Amino acid sequence: PPLQPFAIRFGDDNATLEPQGQILQRRMSDLEGLFADRRAWEQAVADGDPVVYTVVSSPVPEVSRELPQSITTIFPGDTGGEFWMTKGHQHPDPQGEIYLGLEGRGGLLLFDGERAEWLDITPGVIGYIPPGWAHRSVNVGDEPYRFLAVYPGSAGHDYGWVLTHGMGLRARRAEGTVELVPFGTPAG
Ligand code: 6PG
Ligand code: NI
Repeated sequence: PPLQPFAIRFGDDNATLEPQGQILQRRMSDLEGLFADRRAWEQAVADGDPVVYTVVSSPVPEVSRELPQSITTIFPGDTGGEFWMTKGHQHPDPQGEIYLGLEGRGGLLLFDGERAEWLDITPGVIGYIPPGWAHRSVNVGDEPYRFLAVYPGSAGHDYGWVLTHGMGLRARRAEGTVELVPFGTPAG
């Protein structure tokens, strides 16, 4: 049965949702095959295997007709010059999704298999992800980057697609700014 109405509040620092559902932590070792510089990735795993990002969800379930939300926090850093980022995925049931910037400076990289787009996401900016576009988030600043995601519960998550198709572009640290470079050969 559908949920009953309820309010969801941002917690301290916009880092949590109350009430809260599950918390997911992605460490460097969970991001195999995603950074262009594999040596640098291996070194980072050996060197403490840091948490790269966390995802805190509200208690709305990922089922048809419900509308789940989550806050992603990507910590600042780069691996071999490539800014820390999420794994990135496609929604197997293509449906739209929105991201609302909460803290820090980020980018939303979108790829439909042919065309790549980059949206700057800062607090108060909504990035719209149309159906069929794979999406990856990147922290391009020096503090944690947080955003709220809202997506249809039946959309699903396909992480394999990015491993075989890539994301079109990579975001690299360059002289205090962001350089978008061609993706290169996908790792898959
Ligand atoms: C979603 C959202 C978002 C995303 C996180 C972590 O569909 O649920 O796009 O919540 O899952 O930002 O990114 P990855 O799912 O790519 O690891
Ligand atoms: Ni998504």
